[in-house]
Amino acid sequence: MAGRLITIEGLDGSGKSTLVAGLTAELESRSLPVTALREPGGVELAERLRDLVKDPSLEVNARAEALIYAAARAQLVSELLLPLLEEGRFVVLDRYIDSSLAYQGAGRGLGIEAVAQINQFASGGLAADRTLYLRVDAATRASRIGERGEATDRLELAGDEFFTLAAAAYDELAAAEPQRIRVLDGAAAPDLVLAAAIDALSGLLP
Ligand code: TYD
Repeated sequence: MAGRLITIEGLDGSGKSTLVAGLTAELESRSLPVTALREPGGVELAERLRDLVKDPSLEVNARAEALIYAAARAQLVSELLLPLLEEGRFVVLDRYIDSSLAYQGAGRGLGIEAVAQINQFASGGLAADRTLYLRVDAATRASRIGERGEATDRLELAGDEFFTLAAAAYDELAAAEPQRIRVLDGAAAPDLVLAAAIDALSGLLP
């Protein structure tokens, strides 16, 4: 498998979408083959599961939630990610397994180990080559989310405690795997975040 899987992680409002767009444009400008994708989504089944899992009118318990994200991931990996990587492409993926570990494992209290196990099964063991974790303080997040003015989805209805737990889990995951997970300051200006991201991809980019 000649391609590279680069995942972008962080809480809602940490600037992931901006970094994905910037990084993709940067790799394209270097004439590298790159595809940007997001989770849950990217393929039809996963996009439909995305609608379900975000629907605020549905009751979804924590285990079901973890399994829905894992099912969407399983389909994305087999239908699109593996073929793209086999073609030798760089894939910039907005959220991957670490999101489930932080949100379902820690935020919902299912336990990181249990959620890691179902994701090992779902992904067939496909791990990110590098993960860029956009770390952001609660105040910056709150002001960015407030500015968006989008309808609140089911996940965003979770209380502060949920996001505090998820943030702590991201920090722990980053500390446990410093080779793979690089921590970036999500509160910095977009061009600085992009420069730090390129730096953090040293050794992966030709
Ligand atoms: P999205 O609108 O993509 O949010 P964001 O822009 O913050 O990525 O919605 C995805 C939501 O799903 C987001 O609240 C995070 C959550 N999520 C999980 O809880 N677990 C997961 O494994 C993934 C991929 C996402």
